[in-house]
Amino acid sequence: MRTTEIPTATLNNGERMPFLGAGMYQVPPGSDAGRVAATALRLGYRHIDTAQAYRNESDVKEGLRASGVPREEVFITTKMSPSNAGFDRARASFFESLQRLGTDYIDLFLIHWPVHGARTASWKALEKLSSEGLCRSIGVSNYTIRHLRELEAEGSIVPAVNQVEFHPFLFQKELLEYCQSHRIQLEAYSPLARSERLTDPVIAQVARETGHSPAQVMLRWGMQHDVVVIPKSTHEVRLKENLESTGFELSSAQMHMLDSLDENYRTCWDPTDAP
Ligand SMILES: NC(=O)c1ccc[n+]([C@@H]2O[C@H](COP(=O)([O-])OP(=O)(O)OC[C@H]3O[C@@H](n4cnc5c(N)ncnc54)[C@H](OP(=O)(O)O)[C@@H]3O)[C@@H](O)[C@H]2O)c1
Repeated sequence: MRTTEIPTATLNNGERMPFLGAGMYQVPPGSDAGRVAATALRLGYRHIDTAQAYRNESDVKEGLRASGVPREEVFITTKMSPSNAGFDRARASFFESLQRLGTDYIDLFLIHWPVHGARTASWKALEKLSSEGLCRSIGVSNYTIRHLRELEAEGSIVPAVNQVEFHPFLFQKELLEYCQSHRIQLEAYSPLARSERLTDPVIAQVARETGHSPAQVMLRWGMQHDVVVIPKSTHEVRLKENLESTGFELSSAQMHMLDSLDENYRTCWDPTDAP
């Protein structure tokens, strides 16, 4: 697949973000992570999602170098660890990330988790980095509507992105609509529900009807809701399969069937009650 076939979302600041990226959570630091990043880029991915907490930012740098793909063609996201919350630590951690990633800018820098008492100060640090041109876009992760409202009241830049768990079994419709009405791009982590629900009969039925795999159906469902998806795989064959989820359409009946699977099923942490 060529880069041009991956559609891009236009963020609220005009920057463009590929609708599909390669997730790097639990890709073991070291040669594995470097290999996965390089393989993804060679296959045609142009968007990598890492985090300070994943401890594989420097492997992303190695993967980028090994792939031969120019830095400016790749959208790189990293996230500030909760342990680095607060203005000074958030800022210092950003420069450490820059160094590990071997780059002089980051496409998207996210607050990984809404740490109570420190998240506004962290956001101010991100706003300053953004005004200095060191990161093209800034955003948040695991923010509920309540956290976003707080940010709207206390910040001066609207986050470009909110990255949350999102898949047919956790269709966060109210959050999606809130983000869309506030021009915040929703981004789906664990878009495959960590492969725990790939054998669901409705997913299987839509897969049969479309001639695509269950994983491709789940990813396509997210993108068709205008949500960016970042599936993770350490296997080349699955990286390729996931990449090929951009090239087909689900009918409105199929979308409706998949929407109906929502059961508030979470594979990851739940920020609902995060103070
Ligand atoms: N902001 C946050 O708090 C947060 C939290 C979680 C995740 N994330 C981000 O979101 C990314 C994706 O989420 P995730 O890793 O939790 O879960 P996921 O992408 O939903 O699922 C990954 C799992 O699915 C398997 N898989 C991948 N493609 C497959 C396919 N085509 N067929 C069958 N199985 C397949 C993978 O196995 P193999 O690797 O063995 O192929 C892995 O076990 C992360 O890597 C990370 O970048 C962010």
